[in-house]
Amino acid sequence: MRPAIIYRPIGAIHSPLKEPRDAPIQPASAGNIEGTVEIYPEYAEGLADLDGFSHIMLLYHFHLSKEHSLRVKPYLDTEVRGVFATRAPARPNPIGMSIVRLVKVERGKLHIRDVDILDGTPLLDIKPYVPAFDSRSAERIGWLAGKLDDLPGTRDDGRFSGGESVFDRMTDTYDAWYDSAEGRPLYESELKCLRPLVEDSPGPVLEIGVGTGRFAMHFPDVTGIDPSLHALAMAEKRGVKTVHGYGENLPFSDKTFGCVLIIVTLCFVENPLDVLREAKRVLRKDGSIIIGLVPKDSLWGAFYEEKKRAGHPFYRSAEFYSLQDLGNMLHAAGLKISRIRSTLRQRPDEPRRIEEPQEDSVSGAGFLCIEIKADDEDRKSHKDRYL
Ligand SMILES: C[S@@+](CC[C@H](N)C(=O)[O-])C[C@H]1O[C@@H](n2cnc3c(N)ncnc32)[C@H](O)[C@@H]1O
Repeated sequence: MRPAIIYRPIGAIHSPLKEPRDAPIQPASAGNIEGTVEIYPEYAEGLADLDGFSHIMLLYHFHLSKEHSLRVKPYLDTEVRGVFATRAPARPNPIGMSIVRLVKVERGKLHIRDVDILDGTPLLDIKPYVPAFDSRSAERIGWLAGKLDDLPGTRDDGRFSGGESVFDRMTDTYDAWYDSAEGRPLYESELKCLRPLVEDSPGPVLEIGVGTGRFAMHFPDVTGIDPSLHALAMAEKRGVKTVHGYGENLPFSDKTFGCVLIIVTLCFVENPLDVLREAKRVLRKDGSIIIGLVPKDSLWGAFYEEKKRAGHPFYRSAEFYSLQDLGNMLHAAGLKISRIRSTLRQRPDEPRRIEEPQEDSVSGAGFLCIEIKADDEDRKSHKDRYL
Protein backbone atom coordinates (compact mmCIF):
# COMPACT_ATOMS: atom_id res chain seq x y z
CA MET A 1 0.00 0.00 0.00
CA ARG A 2 1.41 3.38 -1.01
CA PRO A 3 1.64 5.91 1.82
CA ALA A 4 -1.33 8.25 2.24
CA ILE A 5 -0.98 11.96 1.57
CA ILE A 6 -2.93 14.06 4.05
CA TYR A 7 -4.32 17.49 3.20
CA ARG A 8 -6.22 19.78 5.55
CA PRO A 9 -8.91 22.11 4.21
CA ILE A 10 -7.92 25.78 4.06
CA GLY A 11 -11.55 26.87 4.16
CA ALA A 12 -15.10 26.02 3.13
CA ILE A 13 -17.23 26.95 0.13
CA HIS A 14 -20.74 28.29 0.77
CA SER A 15 -23.37 28.33 -1.95
CA PRO A 16 -27.14 28.05 -2.42
CA LEU A 17 -26.63 24.55 -3.83
CA LYS A 18 -27.63 22.33 -0.93
CA GLU A 19 -28.11 19.00 -2.66
CA PRO A 20 -26.14 17.26 -5.42
CA ARG A 21 -29.26 17.43 -7.65
CA ASP A 22 -29.21 21.29 -7.39
CA ALA A 23 -25.77 21.60 -8.91
CA PRO A 24 -25.19 22.62 -12.52
CA ILE A 25 -22.86 20.35 -14.43
CA GLN A 26 -20.04 22.84 -14.89
CA PRO A 27 -19.39 26.45 -13.82
CA ALA A 28 -19.98 27.56 -17.43
CA SER A 29 -23.62 26.54 -16.95
CA ALA A 30 -23.89 27.96 -13.42
CA GLY A 31 -25.22 31.28 -14.69
CA ASN A 32 -24.68 33.86 -12.05
CA ILE A 33 -25.10 31.62 -9.02
CA GLU A 34 -23.29 33.41 -6.22
CA GLY A 35 -21.40 31.99 -3.27
CA THR A 36 -18.66 32.74 -0.79
CA VAL A 37 -15.43 31.07 0.20
CA GLU A 38 -14.55 31.18 3.85
CA ILE A 39 -10.81 30.99 4.41
CA TYR A 40 -9.71 29.83 7.83
CA PRO A 41 -7.83 32.54 9.79
CA GLU A 42 -4.46 30.78 9.66
CA TYR A 43 -4.52 30.95 5.83
CA ALA A 44 -6.09 34.41 5.31
CA GLU A 45 -2.77 36.14 4.73
CA GLY A 46 -2.34 34.05 1.57
CA LEU A 47 -5.21 35.96 -0.08
CA ALA A 48 -3.03 39.06 -0.56
CA ASP A 49 -2.95 40.18 -4.23
CA LEU A 50 -5.72 37.80 -5.29
CA ASP A 51 -8.15 40.69 -5.85
CA GLY A 52 -6.38 41.58 -9.11
CA PHE A 53 -7.77 38.46 -10.81
CA SER A 54 -11.24 38.24 -12.35
CA HIS A 55 -11.32 34.43 -12.17
CA ILE A 56 -9.84 31.85 -9.81
CA MET A 57 -9.55 28.09 -9.76
CA LEU A 58 -10.90 26.38 -6.70
CA LEU A 59 -9.64 22.90 -5.83
CA TYR A 60 -11.84 21.15 -3.34
CA HIS A 61 -12.79 17.85 -1.75
CA PHE A 62 -16.00 16.23 -3.03
CA HIS A 63 -17.09 15.54 0.53
CA LEU A 64 -20.39 13.86 -0.44
CA SER A 65 -18.80 11.64 -3.01
CA LYS A 66 -19.54 7.93 -2.59
CA GLU A 67 -17.37 4.91 -3.17
CA HIS A 68 -15.48 5.33 -6.41
CA SER A 69 -15.45 3.09 -9.43
CA LEU A 70 -12.89 3.15 -12.25
CA ARG A 71 -15.66 2.90 -14.85
CA VAL A 72 -18.59 5.28 -14.62
CA LYS A 73 -21.60 6.26 -16.71
CA PRO A 74 -21.29 10.05 -17.01
CA TYR A 75 -24.35 12.27 -16.64
CA LEU A 76 -26.55 11.95 -19.75
CA ASP A 77 -24.18 9.58 -21.47
CA THR A 78 -25.34 6.10 -22.30
CA GLU A 79 -21.95 4.44 -22.25
CA VAL A 80 -19.58 3.55 -19.43
CA ARG A 81 -16.32 5.54 -19.50
CA GLY A 82 -13.03 5.40 -17.64
CA VAL A 83 -13.38 7.64 -14.59
CA PHE A 84 -10.33 9.72 -15.58
CA ALA A 85 -12.04 10.56 -18.88
CA THR A 86 -14.91 12.13 -16.90
CA ARG A 87 -15.52 14.83 -14.32
CA ALA A 88 -17.46 12.42 -12.07
CA PRO A 89 -17.12 13.32 -8.35
CA ALA A 90 -16.72 9.69 -7.27
CA ARG A 91 -13.04 9.14 -8.09
CA PRO A 92 -10.09 7.54 -6.28
CA ASN A 93 -9.02 10.97 -4.95
CA PRO A 94 -12.28 12.92 -4.89
CA ILE A 95 -10.78 16.27 -5.84
CA GLY A 96 -12.94 18.81 -7.64
CA MET A 97 -11.88 21.84 -9.65
CA SER A 98 -13.98 24.82 -10.74
CA ILE A 99 -13.09 28.10 -12.37
CA VAL A 100 -15.28 30.79 -10.85
CA ARG A 101 -15.56 34.57 -11.16
CA LEU A 102 -13.99 36.44 -8.24
CA VAL A 103 -16.31 39.32 -7.34
CA LYS A 104 -14.74 40.67 -4.14
CA VAL A 105 -12.05 39.79 -1.61
CA GLU A 106 -12.58 40.58 2.05
CA ARG A 107 -10.41 39.55 4.96
CA GLY A 108 -10.85 35.80 5.17
CA LYS A 109 -13.75 35.77 2.68
CA LEU A 110 -14.08 35.63 -1.11
CA HIS A 111 -17.30 36.52 -2.93
CA ILE A 112 -17.63 34.39 -6.07
CA ARG A 113 -20.03 33.87 -8.98
CA ASP A 114 -20.80 31.11 -11.51
CA VAL A 115 -20.65 28.61 -8.68
CA ASP A 116 -21.32 24.93 -9.34
CA ILE A 117 -20.07 23.72 -5.93
CA LEU A 118 -22.24 22.36 -3.13
CA ASP A 119 -22.62 24.25 0.14
CA GLY A 120 -20.14 23.18 2.82
CA THR A 121 -17.55 21.76 0.41
CA PRO A 122 -14.07 21.75 2.01
CA LEU A 123 -11.59 23.88 0.08
CA LEU A 124 -8.09 22.53 -0.61
CA ASP A 125 -6.45 25.27 -2.66
CA ILE A 126 -6.95 28.44 -4.73
CA LYS A 127 -5.03 29.43 -7.85
CA PRO A 128 -5.42 32.50 -10.04
CA TYR A 129 -6.89 31.75 -13.46
CA VAL A 130 -4.61 33.13 -16.18
CA PRO A 131 -5.97 32.63 -19.73
CA ALA A 132 -2.45 32.63 -21.21
CA PHE A 133 -1.54 29.66 -18.96
CA ASP A 134 -4.85 27.90 -18.67
CA SER A 135 -6.90 28.41 -21.82
CA ARG A 136 -6.14 26.02 -24.68
CA SER A 137 -7.80 25.67 -28.00
CA ALA A 138 -8.22 21.89 -27.84
CA GLU A 139 -8.84 20.07 -31.11
CA ARG A 140 -10.30 16.87 -29.56
CA ILE A 141 -12.73 16.40 -26.71
CA GLY A 142 -13.05 12.61 -26.84
CA TRP A 143 -16.43 11.06 -26.09
CA LEU A 144 -17.86 14.53 -25.31
CA ALA A 145 -17.71 15.48 -28.99
CA GLY A 146 -21.21 16.42 -30.13
CA LYS A 147 -22.62 15.99 -26.61
CA LEU A 148 -22.09 19.41 -25.08
CA ASP A 149 -25.26 20.83 -26.54
CA ASP A 150 -27.28 17.96 -25.06
CA LEU A 151 -26.34 18.72 -21.49
CA PRO A 152 -29.02 20.93 -19.93
CA GLY A 153 -27.63 24.34 -19.05
CA THR A 154 -24.29 23.47 -20.59
CA ARG A 155 -23.00 24.78 -23.87
CA ASP A 156 -19.70 24.63 -25.65
CA ASP A 157 -18.43 28.19 -25.30
CA GLY A 158 -16.08 27.79 -28.22
CA ARG A 159 -13.01 26.66 -26.28
CA PHE A 160 -13.63 23.00 -27.10
CA SER A 161 -14.93 23.39 -30.59
CA GLY A 162 -11.85 25.46 -31.30
CA GLY A 163 -14.12 28.19 -32.66
CA GLU A 164 -14.49 31.38 -30.71
CA SER A 165 -17.14 33.50 -32.37
CA VAL A 166 -16.29 36.54 -34.46
CA PHE A 167 -17.57 38.68 -31.59
CA ASP A 168 -14.71 37.23 -29.50
CA ARG A 169 -12.05 37.43 -32.16
CA MET A 170 -12.87 40.92 -33.41
CA THR A 171 -14.42 42.57 -30.37
CA ASP A 172 -12.49 45.82 -30.74
CA THR A 173 -13.36 46.19 -34.42
CA TYR A 174 -16.97 45.42 -33.66
CA ASP A 175 -17.14 47.91 -30.80
CA ALA A 176 -15.35 50.69 -32.72
CA TRP A 177 -18.28 50.86 -35.20
CA TYR A 178 -20.45 52.57 -32.56
CA ASP A 179 -18.00 55.50 -32.39
CA SER A 180 -17.27 55.65 -36.12
CA ALA A 181 -18.62 58.28 -38.56
CA GLU A 182 -20.83 55.69 -40.25
CA GLY A 183 -21.91 53.88 -37.07
CA ARG A 184 -22.52 56.67 -34.56
CA PRO A 185 -25.57 58.34 -36.26
CA LEU A 186 -27.23 54.94 -36.75
CA TYR A 187 -26.51 53.88 -33.17
CA GLU A 188 -27.89 57.16 -31.78
CA SER A 189 -31.00 56.92 -33.97
CA GLU A 190 -31.58 53.34 -32.77
CA LEU A 191 -31.11 54.36 -29.15
CA LYS A 192 -33.68 57.16 -29.53
CA CYS A 193 -36.10 54.63 -30.93
CA LEU A 194 -35.49 52.12 -28.14
CA ARG A 195 -35.26 54.39 -25.10
CA PRO A 196 -38.95 55.17 -24.38
CA LEU A 197 -39.91 51.49 -24.69
CA VAL A 198 -37.33 50.47 -22.10
CA GLU A 199 -38.23 53.40 -19.87
CA ASP A 200 -41.94 52.40 -20.02
CA SER A 201 -41.08 48.85 -18.89
CA PRO A 202 -40.54 47.69 -15.34
CA GLY A 203 -37.08 46.46 -14.32
CA PRO A 204 -34.89 44.62 -13.84
CA VAL A 205 -33.72 44.41 -17.43
CA LEU A 206 -32.07 41.44 -19.15
CA GLU A 207 -30.36 41.93 -22.49
CA ILE A 208 -29.91 38.71 -24.45
CA GLY A 209 -26.84 39.08 -26.68
CA VAL A 210 -25.64 42.16 -24.81
CA GLY A 211 -22.41 42.32 -26.81
CA THR A 212 -20.18 45.12 -25.57
CA GLY A 213 -23.07 46.75 -23.69
CA ARG A 214 -23.60 49.73 -26.02
CA PHE A 215 -27.38 49.75 -25.47
CA ALA A 216 -27.46 48.21 -22.00
CA MET A 217 -25.14 50.92 -20.60
CA HIS A 218 -27.89 53.54 -21.01
CA PHE A 219 -30.33 51.88 -18.63
CA PRO A 220 -30.17 51.10 -14.91
CA ASP A 221 -29.95 47.61 -13.47
CA VAL A 222 -29.26 45.63 -16.66
CA THR A 223 -27.98 42.07 -16.68
CA GLY A 224 -26.44 41.12 -20.01
CA ILE A 225 -25.92 37.57 -21.26
CA ASP A 226 -23.70 36.69 -24.19
CA PRO A 227 -21.49 33.79 -25.32
CA SER A 228 -18.62 36.17 -26.13
CA LEU A 229 -16.35 36.57 -23.10
CA HIS A 230 -14.42 39.44 -24.68
CA ALA A 231 -17.58 41.38 -25.44
CA LEU A 232 -18.84 40.71 -21.90
CA ALA A 233 -15.62 42.10 -20.42
CA MET A 234 -16.30 45.40 -22.23
CA ALA A 235 -19.95 45.42 -21.20
CA GLU A 236 -18.92 44.90 -17.60
CA LYS A 237 -16.62 47.94 -17.76
CA ARG A 238 -19.67 49.89 -18.95
CA GLY A 239 -21.52 48.99 -15.74
CA VAL A 240 -23.55 46.02 -17.00
CA LYS A 241 -23.87 42.92 -14.83
CA THR A 242 -22.71 40.14 -17.11
CA VAL A 243 -23.44 36.44 -17.40
CA HIS A 244 -21.74 34.13 -19.82
CA GLY A 245 -24.31 32.02 -21.66
CA TYR A 246 -26.73 31.57 -24.51
CA GLY A 247 -30.16 33.01 -25.11
CA GLU A 248 -31.48 29.56 -25.98
CA ASN A 249 -30.81 28.36 -22.45
CA LEU A 250 -31.08 31.19 -19.95
CA PRO A 251 -29.67 30.42 -16.49
CA PHE A 252 -32.44 32.39 -14.74
CA SER A 253 -35.61 31.38 -12.93
CA ASP A 254 -39.06 31.90 -14.45
CA LYS A 255 -40.51 35.44 -14.23
CA THR A 256 -37.28 37.14 -13.11
CA PHE A 257 -37.16 40.20 -15.40
CA GLY A 258 -39.50 43.12 -16.10
CA CYS A 259 -37.90 43.76 -19.47
CA VAL A 260 -36.00 41.50 -21.87
CA LEU A 261 -34.06 43.20 -24.66
CA ILE A 262 -32.96 41.38 -27.80
CA ILE A 263 -31.23 44.01 -29.92
CA VAL A 264 -29.88 42.95 -33.33
CA THR A 265 -29.20 39.55 -31.86
CA LEU A 266 -31.94 37.23 -33.19
CA CYS A 267 -30.12 37.27 -36.53
CA PHE A 268 -26.95 35.91 -34.87
CA VAL A 269 -28.36 33.18 -32.62
CA GLU A 270 -28.52 29.55 -33.64
CA ASN A 271 -32.14 29.06 -32.68
CA PRO A 272 -34.22 32.28 -32.53
CA LEU A 273 -37.42 30.47 -31.57
CA ASP A 274 -35.78 28.95 -28.51
CA VAL A 275 -34.45 32.39 -27.57
CA LEU A 276 -37.98 33.85 -27.78
CA ARG A 277 -39.39 31.01 -25.69
CA GLU A 278 -36.70 31.55 -23.06
CA ALA A 279 -37.31 35.31 -23.09
CA LYS A 280 -40.99 34.62 -22.43
CA ARG A 281 -40.18 32.21 -19.62
CA VAL A 282 -37.99 34.64 -17.67
CA LEU A 283 -40.40 37.58 -18.16
CA ARG A 284 -42.61 38.81 -15.32
CA LYS A 285 -46.38 39.05 -15.92
CA ASP A 286 -46.23 42.85 -16.13
CA GLY A 287 -43.08 42.89 -18.26
CA SER A 288 -42.20 43.32 -21.92
CA ILE A 289 -39.80 41.87 -24.44
CA ILE A 290 -38.29 44.47 -26.75
CA ILE A 291 -36.72 43.31 -30.00
CA GLY A 292 -34.45 45.47 -32.16
CA LEU A 293 -34.81 44.23 -35.73
CA VAL A 294 -33.20 45.18 -39.02
CA PRO A 295 -35.95 43.89 -41.37
CA LYS A 296 -34.59 41.70 -44.11
CA ASP A 297 -36.89 43.34 -46.66
CA SER A 298 -35.75 46.92 -45.88
CA LEU A 299 -32.97 48.77 -47.69
CA TRP A 300 -30.76 48.28 -44.65
CA GLY A 301 -31.59 44.57 -44.60
CA ALA A 302 -30.54 44.36 -48.27
CA PHE A 303 -27.38 46.35 -47.46
CA TYR A 304 -26.35 43.83 -44.76
CA GLU A 305 -27.45 40.85 -46.89
CA GLU A 306 -25.05 42.11 -49.54
CA LYS A 307 -22.23 42.24 -46.97
CA LYS A 308 -23.17 38.70 -45.93
CA ARG A 309 -22.89 37.48 -49.52
CA ALA A 310 -19.50 39.20 -49.81
CA GLY A 311 -18.27 37.19 -46.78
CA HIS A 312 -18.17 40.07 -44.27
CA PRO A 313 -16.71 38.63 -41.02
CA PHE A 314 -19.73 39.63 -38.90
CA TYR A 315 -22.64 39.29 -41.32
CA ARG A 316 -21.63 36.09 -43.06
CA SER A 317 -23.10 34.08 -40.17
CA ALA A 318 -26.19 36.27 -39.78
CA GLU A 319 -29.68 35.16 -40.77
CA PHE A 320 -31.88 38.21 -41.31
CA TYR A 321 -35.66 38.15 -40.82
CA SER A 322 -38.54 40.27 -42.05
CA LEU A 323 -41.21 41.56 -39.68
CA GLN A 324 -43.46 38.82 -41.05
CA ASP A 325 -40.82 36.14 -40.28
CA LEU A 326 -40.54 37.49 -36.76
CA GLY A 327 -44.32 37.54 -36.43
CA ASN A 328 -44.42 33.84 -37.35
CA MET A 329 -41.75 33.02 -34.76
CA LEU A 330 -43.54 35.06 -32.11
CA HIS A 331 -46.75 33.23 -32.92
CA ALA A 332 -44.98 29.89 -32.49
CA ALA A 333 -43.64 31.10 -29.12
CA GLY A 334 -47.12 32.23 -28.01
CA LEU A 335 -46.21 35.93 -28.16
CA LYS A 336 -47.79 38.95 -29.86
CA ILE A 337 -46.60 42.41 -30.80
CA SER A 338 -48.18 45.26 -28.86
CA ARG A 339 -46.26 48.27 -30.18
CA ILE A 340 -43.67 49.15 -32.82
CA ARG A 341 -41.43 52.19 -33.16
CA SER A 342 -39.25 52.65 -36.20
CA THR A 343 -36.26 54.60 -37.43
CA LEU A 344 -33.62 54.63 -40.21
CA ARG A 345 -35.70 55.87 -43.07
CA GLN A 346 -32.43 57.26 -44.50
CA ARG A 347 -30.90 55.21 -47.28
CA PRO A 348 -27.64 53.28 -46.67
CA ASP A 349 -26.00 55.22 -49.54
CA GLU A 350 -26.87 58.66 -48.05
CA PRO A 351 -24.55 60.55 -45.65
CA ARG A 352 -25.46 59.25 -42.19
CA ARG A 353 -27.48 61.40 -39.81
CA ILE A 354 -29.30 61.04 -36.50
CA GLU A 355 -33.03 60.55 -37.05
CA GLU A 356 -36.11 61.13 -34.91
CA PRO A 357 -38.00 57.85 -34.52
CA GLN A 358 -41.60 57.28 -35.60
CA GLU A 359 -44.28 55.97 -33.29
CA ASP A 360 -45.31 53.10 -35.58
CA SER A 361 -43.95 50.68 -38.14
CA VAL A 362 -42.97 52.73 -41.18
CA SER A 363 -42.67 50.78 -44.36
CA GLY A 364 -39.04 50.51 -45.44
CA ALA A 365 -37.61 51.65 -42.08
CA GLY A 366 -34.24 50.02 -41.44
CA PHE A 367 -34.63 49.53 -37.70
CA LEU A 368 -37.72 48.51 -35.75
CA CYS A 369 -38.15 48.39 -31.98
CA ILE A 370 -40.84 45.82 -31.35
CA GLU A 371 -42.52 45.56 -27.97
CA ILE A 372 -44.24 42.38 -26.80
CA LYS A 373 -46.18 42.37 -23.54
CA ALA A 374 -46.04 39.25 -21.38
CA ASP A 375 -49.69 39.37 -20.44
CA ASP A 376 -51.53 40.22 -23.61
CA GLU A 377 -54.92 38.79 -22.69
CA ASP A 378 -56.59 42.08 -21.73
CA ARG A 379 -55.34 43.81 -24.86
CA LYS A 380 -57.45 41.85 -27.33
CA SER A 381 -58.51 44.85 -29.41
CA HIS A 382 -54.88 45.86 -29.86
CA LYS A 383 -53.24 42.54 -30.30
CA ASP A 384 -54.22 41.71 -33.86
CA ARG A 385 -53.07 45.02 -35.19
CA TYR A 386 -49.80 43.83 -36.54
CA LEU A 387 -50.26 40.10 -37.03
C1 LIG B 1 -24.73 42.29 -33.28
S1 LIG B 1 -24.31 41.85 -31.68
C2 LIG B 1 -25.48 42.84 -30.77
C3 LIG B 1 -24.94 43.28 -29.42
C4 LIG B 1 -25.85 44.27 -28.70
N1 LIG B 1 -27.18 43.75 -28.53
C5 LIG B 1 -25.89 45.56 -29.46
O1 LIG B 1 -26.86 45.75 -30.22
O2 LIG B 1 -25.00 46.35 -29.30
C6 LIG B 1 -24.95 40.22 -31.51
C7 LIG B 1 -24.55 39.56 -30.21
O3 LIG B 1 -25.24 38.33 -30.10
C8 LIG B 1 -24.40 37.45 -29.42
N2 LIG B 1 -24.89 36.08 -29.60
C9 LIG B 1 -24.60 35.20 -30.59
N3 LIG B 1 -25.22 34.03 -30.36
C10 LIG B 1 -25.93 34.17 -29.22
C11 LIG B 1 -26.78 33.32 -28.46
N4 LIG B 1 -27.06 32.08 -28.87
N5 LIG B 1 -27.32 33.80 -27.32
C12 LIG B 1 -27.07 35.07 -26.91
N6 LIG B 1 -26.27 35.92 -27.59
C13 LIG B 1 -25.72 35.49 -28.73
C14 LIG B 1 -23.04 37.72 -30.01
O4 LIG B 1 -21.99 37.21 -29.22
C15 LIG B 1 -23.05 39.24 -30.10
O5 LIG B 1 -22.51 39.83 -28.95
